[in-house]
Amino acid sequence: MKLAILSRAPRAYSTQRLRSAALDRGHEVKVLNTLRFAIDLSGDEPDLQYRGRPLSDYDAIVPRIGSSITYFGTAVVRQFEQMDVYTPNTAHGIANARDKLRATQILSRHNIGMPATAFVRNRADVRDAIERVGGAPVVIKLLEGTQGIGVILAPEVNVAEAIIETLHSTNQNVLIQRFVAESKGRDIRALVVGDRVVAAMRRRASGDEFRSNVHRGGAVESVELPKEFEEAAVRSAQIMGLRVAGVDMLESDQGPLVMEVNSSPGLEGIETATKLDVAGAIIDHISNQVAFPEIDVRQRLTVSTGYGVAELVVRGSADLVGMTLRESGLEERDITVLTMHRGTSVIPNPSRGLVLEPEDRLLCFGRLEEMRSMVPERRRRRAKVRKLPKQPISDPTT
Ligand SMILES: Nc1ncnc2c1ncn2[C@@H]1O[C@H](COP(=O)(O)OP(=O)(O)O)[C@@H](O)[C@H]1O
Ligand SMILES: [Mg+2]
Repeated sequence: MKLAILSRAPRAYSTQRLRSAALDRGHEVKVLNTLRFAIDLSGDEPDLQYRGRPLSDYDAIVPRIGSSITYFGTAVVRQFEQMDVYTPNTAHGIANARDKLRATQILSRHNIGMPATAFVRNRADVRDAIERVGGAPVVIKLLEGTQGIGVILAPEVNVAEAIIETLHSTNQNVLIQRFVAESKGRDIRALVVGDRVVAAMRRRASGDEFRSNVHRGGAVESVELPKEFEEAAVRSAQIMGLRVAGVDMLESDQGPLVMEVNSSPGLEGIETATKLDVAGAIIDHISNQVAFPEIDVRQRLTVSTGYGVAELVVRGSADLVGMTLRESGLEERDITVLTMHRGTSVIPNPSRGLVLEPEDRLLCFGRLEEMRSMVPERRRRRAKVRKLPKQPISDPTT
């Protein structure tokens, strides 16, 4: 295949390793400076210029988008996606992972363990938020920090309040997060490629530092990952839509707590610690998947008027329980079941003989009109709206 590595650092360890792993495997490979692309929307088809000239055909890209160029970098990746060039990490995935709040929000509905986190903006809400995540000492994080910069441990509530207020006054958004003291300055970095962890290391902060980032002087060692850490890492990467990711987890008393999912993980630390060919695993994965460029399924499916995607839930009492998919009548109603979720397991393309159980969740594509009655009612959190009193506005003259 013909591969482009998008990077502003051609000499960096990670770029060099990816390049030589591709060459070793007989692929054609170029390192292209992300900032030298021009997105061209003038012609009939989405196109790209590189250094002022039309870009030649590539089969795949490896985006290595640094946090200082997220907006432009993801725009370039998105353009490659529009041109049906394979990328292990989509622009959407990269942008979501880059923002620590956004990533936490997305992961939070999928039963992934995470440190208790709060996000507020008004000064009046800060103290409550700190208490809600467990009080001082508390961790404060800039939304887009990397390498440990922008991660602060505040020893007392007053200090935390002062720091947060200062950051807010300079228009910076911050997360408030429980300090997971029992992790004792250590964390786990798992390198996910495709559906598995290909390498993992433990990082240990130096001295009385609590941040274990290699850039903060953290020491690394290879580690055999317990099953639950492996699952948490793979699922987090999948949920974020990243096929290559560095997942950071704390070892807490309640098991793995995912802190962040990095879309351009550095390779030097992990390859040195584990002596494993991570770059090679990434290239192998890409060459296996290159025929399947990412498709924004929802966007493509919803352009058929009257059709769309919905999740249907099999209700305990309803008549679907105990039926096979064939008997369920969905097919007759022009509804196709794409995947089925049962508990934490997923059954892709379920067979027509599959027997439905209560609480099965069916991800379906079909006629919206037909699916409307089957979509579960939204969970109500508030009481019903009450009737107006007889005299809605009290009369000041009485
Ligand atoms: N809630 C927390 N409790 C304890 N340690 C933490 C917590 N959050 C972060 N850390 C430490 O700080 C490091 C950096 O935090 P992280 O969220 O990964 O930011 P960055 O993007 O800068 O790496 C982590 O690797 C971990 O060692
Ligand atoms: Mg980190």
